[in-house]
Amino acid sequence: MSDIKAPKGTRDIFAPEIQKWQYLENAIHGYYKKFLYQEIRTPIFEHSELFSRGIGSETEVVQKEMYTFTDKSDRSLTLRPENTASVVRAAIENNLFETMAPLRFYYIGPMFRYDKPQKGRYRQFQQFGVEVFADDSPQVDAEVILSAVDFLKKLGIEEIQLDLNSVGCPQCRPAYLEVLRKAARASESRLCVDCRRKIEGNPLRIFDCKLPECAEATRQFPVLGDHLCAECREHFTAVRETLSWMNIPFQLNPRLVRGLDYYTKTAFEVISGQLGAQNALLGGGRYNNLIKELGGPDMAGIGFAAGMERIILHLQSLEIPRARILFVACQDPQWLAHAIQLAQVLRAEGYPVYLDYQGKNLKKQFKKADRIAAAFTLVLAEDEVKSGTVSIKNMASQEQIKISLKDLNAWLKTNY
Ligand code: HAM
Repeated sequence: MSDIKAPKGTRDIFAPEIQKWQYLENAIHGYYKKFLYQEIRTPIFEHSELFSRGIGSETEVVQKEMYTFTDKSDRSLTLRPENTASVVRAAIENNLFETMAPLRFYYIGPMFRYDKPQKGRYRQFQQFGVEVFADDSPQVDAEVILSAVDFLKKLGIEEIQLDLNSVGCPQCRPAYLEVLRKAARASESRLCVDCRRKIEGNPLRIFDCKLPECAEATRQFPVLGDHLCAECREHFTAVRETLSWMNIPFQLNPRLVRGLDYYTKTAFEVISGQLGAQNALLGGGRYNNLIKELGGPDMAGIGFAAGMERIILHLQSLEIPRARILFVACQDPQWLAHAIQLAQVLRAEGYPVYLDYQGKNLKKQFKKADRIAAAFTLVLAEDEVKSGTVSIKNMASQEQIKISLKDLNAWLKTNY
């Protein structure tokens, strides 16, 4: 056995789990087209500055979790820890604001964070997400949230909780941060070293700390919801109202601040009781300043991303029927050309076909057909080749019949 293992926090995905991934990916492609989202694929690595500027230099993601390296030309590059900044960068660079309408994107792909691996948390993980630009209406926030919750329900994931908050905007947040700082300074001795450091820089990030003593201390801290400006308050009221029209239940969570700095106004997370500590299935929110901050127009944005490994953990009972395999066997290598041509015809018809080239006797080929769980074995021997027929063995019932090759397609249409 090789002593080289996959790096910590990464995993190999193969059958049968891979079938769930393909099912999920197909479901995403199908579902998000209904909302006019277009797929976007951005590079897996970007200039490091995109993330430090986009996500915020004070965030855990940027300070502790980025896979950053210098390439041979001395550029600092980073494996993307998330994709919102990349989608914004791509839209600015390719001038999609002018050429694409509506400005609605979805993506599926790997992200990288140097985090402590555990159930549901990896260093390479897969996200799918959506981003909508150029629409600041609260109804879009509700529609994005609806699409997230409804998609999970369509997958059969029902036991979820939607947490909702408003994190304000540059008009109301600075005054709140001062109030928060005051409260944090008064409780400084109850906070961890990391959180004490956050007080002067970005005290909102104290709410991200997972240590129980810090979580306990923040319980008495003032919350942003009580300090929103009129515009943010109205926006938030309209989001909640639209969600109630849509029949989407939610829970107000005044301490939900999300771990990335770009959020303004609406922030949300969908959590599941089945996941243990890593309970967030997805998270997102509005980011009305990010596009401008990264050099684009002054344009609103909103989106979310979901952890696909965490969704897959919820699809354990999903049974995906295996493709029914046709095994083409030839009794003697001299009939191989016929077997190869038969396999080609069958594949062109859409059937999954396996052909054994190892020149083993028929008994061994039947054994192999059993091992790969073939539904039928199609045998070509001298008699079949000479008479233009094929013998078909049903691997489950062991019944065997011989039919004319020209009737094979019709036979498969009723018996496959
Ligand atoms: P995020 O909350 O950092 O948001 O990540 C979104 C989701 O990715 C999480 O809810 C979780 O399911 C999954 N996730 C995060 N880290 C890991 C990990 N180490 N292992 C497994 N799954 C993980 C974002 O990434 C934002 N870009 C979302 C967004 C889009 N906001 C606006 N648009």
